[in-house]
Amino acid sequence: MGEVKTIEWKDDKLILIDCTKLPIKEEYVVCERYSELVRAIKTLAVRGAPAIGVSAAYGVVLAAIEGKNISNNKEQYLEFIDKAIEELAATRPTAVNLFWALDRMKKKLHTIKDLSQNEIKEKLLDEANLIYEEDVQCNKNIGKYGNDIVPYEANILTHCNAGALATAGYGTALGVIRYAHYSGKNIHVYADETRPLLQGARLTAWELVKEHIPATLIADNMAGYVMKLNKIDLVITGADRITVNGDTANKIGTYSLAILAKAHNIPFYIAAPLSTIDMNLKSGEEIVIEERDKKELRELFGQKIAPDEIDTFNPAFDVTPNEYITGIITEVGILKPPYNISIKSAKHF
Ligand code: MRU
Repeated sequence: MGEVKTIEWKDDKLILIDCTKLPIKEEYVVCERYSELVRAIKTLAVRGAPAIGVSAAYGVVLAAIEGKNISNNKEQYLEFIDKAIEELAATRPTAVNLFWALDRMKKKLHTIKDLSQNEIKEKLLDEANLIYEEDVQCNKNIGKYGNDIVPYEANILTHCNAGALATAGYGTALGVIRYAHYSGKNIHVYADETRPLLQGARLTAWELVKEHIPATLIADNMAGYVMKLNKIDLVITGADRITVNGDTANKIGTYSLAILAKAHNIPFYIAAPLSTIDMNLKSGEEIVIEERDKKELRELFGQKIAPDEIDTFNPAFDVTPNEYITGIITEVGILKPPYNISIKSAKHF
């Protein structure tokens, strides 16, 4: 189906499609050191909650390889990997998949710490590969379950990019759209451009065009009018962190869409793997929202679009309260309100 490979481990290197360059250029970032991945995550060369988590898992493997050249001393070697995990964790604060994947790698490291350096690297690589494969499988299952709520003819609005480019493959919100499209449904997508960094216009539009899924690009401020014109049957977005009560952090602008959807009686769904649910947080108020550089608002592709002197507020995400969310599409089924109950049972708490 011509789907893009976002993340690839090859010859002890991590190869990432550079999301900052699309759709102008299809370029790849090759990481041989974990610090190169730290930079790739911070600059959004790799982005999207599951993709950040999967690539960070491989970042730990990069550190395990690099550490071998730094010290033969086991204690120093393990300290080096621990330091890499800390640096990877400090890249972006909101997407919980990053911490989930690093935690899993840390736990794995703890169980194998008495093995040789070579064995440690191999076992960490096995774990990262597992995280990768599980993510692709989760997304396919999200697509399959999500298909149940997609009518045979549907105009679906999505925000940001929750596609193959945001995951190890297939996508979450775009995974549902892909599944519905390839199952023969008559799907048309409205893609929000997603200011300030245009993940919708650059990445979602690119994925949809590449796979010939019928789609129309709109600016973010057009969504309300398009809904008013009865052109939207369903909204599906991804998530960066979901709390126990179902409150959901996702790309800035998702909250406004959810309110607009409610006002127009349009179902609003979140599609995300269970790894995006943070069982440590009771509600969205506890989620740390990343604030990004002022330049992202004052400039567009390095071109000045506002005076340097103007102050900016640039939160990368917002939180949609659970009461606006019709359902959360996961790899084990669609979770419905009350989320406190459905989330706990899906996560086996
Ligand atoms: O800042 P980004 O591009 O990493 O933000 C990505 C999003 O908000 C996505 O919607 C979310 O991570 C889900 S990706 C399957």
